[in-house]
Amino acid sequence: MGLFSKDIKTKDDLFVHTLRDIYYAEHQITKALPKMISKASNPQLKQAFESHLRETEGQIVRLEEVFRLHGVEAKGVTCDAIDGLVKEAESVMSETGDNDVLDAAMLASAQAVEHYEISRYGTLAAWAEELGHPDCARLLRETLEEEKATDGKLTQIAQGSVNRQAA
Ligand SMILES: [Fe+2]
Ligand SMILES: [Fe+2]
Repeated sequence: MGLFSKDIKTKDDLFVHTLRDIYYAEHQITKALPKMISKASNPQLKQAFESHLRETEGQIVRLEEVFRLHGVEAKGVTCDAIDGLVKEAESVMSETGDNDVLDAAMLASAQAVEHYEISRYGTLAAWAEELGHPDCARLLRETLEEEKATDGKLTQIAQGSVNRQAA
C-alpha cells in the first residue's frame, strides 16, 4: 500500500487506507481462487479452495459493512503485496507440470495469502478498537477467525497428503 502517501495524516486515515487495501486484496483473491479450484487435483484441497471462495465473498460484504459503520465509501486501493503474492502463485502454477507438485505449490501460495490476511485483519481489528469502533472491530475479528481457520485447514491438508505425494 502507498504508506507514504501525504493523504494519510491521522490514525483514522491509516485505518481507512488499510481497510481499502484489504478490500482490494479480497477482490483479487476472488479472481485468483477459481483458477486454483480448476487446477487442484487433491479433492480436499479443491474443496477447501471452493469453500474459501464463498467465505471470501462474505468477507467482502463484511468489509462493506465496516466501511458503512465507519462512514466512509467502500472502495479499494491497489495492494502491491497481494498483487505480488498472486503473481508469484500464477508463475509457479504455470511452471509446475506434475499434479501433486502443483497442488503443493498452490497450497503454499494460498497459505502465504492467508498469513498476509491474518496480519492485516489483526492490525485492523486492533486499530478499530483503539479508534473507538468496537462494532467494526467485532466484524474484522470474525474475518480474522475465518482466515486463521482456513490456514489451519490448509496445514492439515498439507500434512495429510499433498506434501507426502509430492515427495
Ligand atoms: Fe479473506
Ligand atoms: Fe483468506
